[in-house]
Amino acid sequence: MQHTYIHEVVARDGLQIEPQFVPTERKVELIDALSETGLAKIEVTSFVSPKAVPNLRDAETVMASIKRNPSVKYVALIANLKGAERAIAARADEVNLVVSVSETHNRANVHRSTDASFEGFSEITRELERTGIAVTGALSTAFGCPFEGEQAPERVMEFVRRYVELGVRSVTLADTTGMGHPKLVLDLCTEARERWPELELALHFHNTRGMGLANVLSGLAAGVQHYEACLGGLGGCPFAPGATGNICTEDLVHMLECMGYTTGVNLDKLIAVSKRLGAIVSHDLPGQVVKAGKATDLHPIPGGLH
Ligand code: COA
Ligand code: ZN
Repeated sequence: MQHTYIHEVVARDGLQIEPQFVPTERKVELIDALSETGLAKIEVTSFVSPKAVPNLRDAETVMASIKRNPSVKYVALIANLKGAERAIAARADEVNLVVSVSETHNRANVHRSTDASFEGFSEITRELERTGIAVTGALSTAFGCPFEGEQAPERVMEFVRRYVELGVRSVTLADTTGMGHPKLVLDLCTEARERWPELELALHFHNTRGMGLANVLSGLAAGVQHYEACLGGLGGCPFAPGATGNICTEDLVHMLECMGYTTGVNLDKLIAVSKRLGAIVSHDLPGQVVKAGKATDLHPIPGGLH
């Protein structure tokens, strides 16, 4: 039986695009409840500009208020040195750097060229080396950009190489607006795994075109064990037109467990947390298993059939 690691991004990717600010206490309650479900990592927030992402303007307070479970890694997303300094002060276990493969999306998202992003990352990784905080690197739009379309596989590999040269412990290929399809995922993951067999590779899918869980199957076929997902299927990048939710964590865990993969996640507890999420964001969620129940939750046999 193969193990998979589930990284929960609802508190960052999920809430960043919500039409309404979720009060800090609700965020803390949500993260504390998730901390008891067996997830490997929780992305707590991002240390970016509060003008760019006002929903996460309470990043410091959230980081300081959560109850940390020693078996969970608490991650913060950052894009620049100021973000790194804030993440260090907030004692993040891990920071997740972000750059887009697409030049256009990188400018829309973080207002600089991809070269400038990587130049900044060299300074950040030097700074973080002294702190013991782990560094991972995300590649947004790795499977397609809403402005530029397909991204050349060589360019994706070049960006993975740049992260590897910075010494990051893991690289995440992210499908910002659900443009990736199972064949592309298999091709890119197979190539990355062949070229950097020691590198921890992670995948981050949005279900914008209904291919999210199919893409996970391709990731699994290529041997990828780390998956980011979002409770209830919330999520989306505010700087990518047409962005919609991530793959739904409880649907992902349910699928993996049906297939015999272990996740370490207690699915019943996770579903219970997800059932409270609709009230927190005040709207319906795209997740399926919460509505249908697990495949093993059977219904009583109708009376007349006995
Ligand atoms: N945290 C808080 N404030 C920050 C900051 C950070 N990490 N980085 C910059 N700022 C502030 C500066 O202090 C400055 O504030 P001021 O206007 O009050 O003087 C302002 O932002 C502009 O600073 P500058 O360095 O010129 O940043 P920028 O305008 O080039 O923006 C980012 C760069 C990365 C900060 C900004 O584009 C951003 O936050 N993008 C959001 C990325 C994101 O989270 N996307 C979704 C997830 S992928
Ligand atoms: Zn995302």
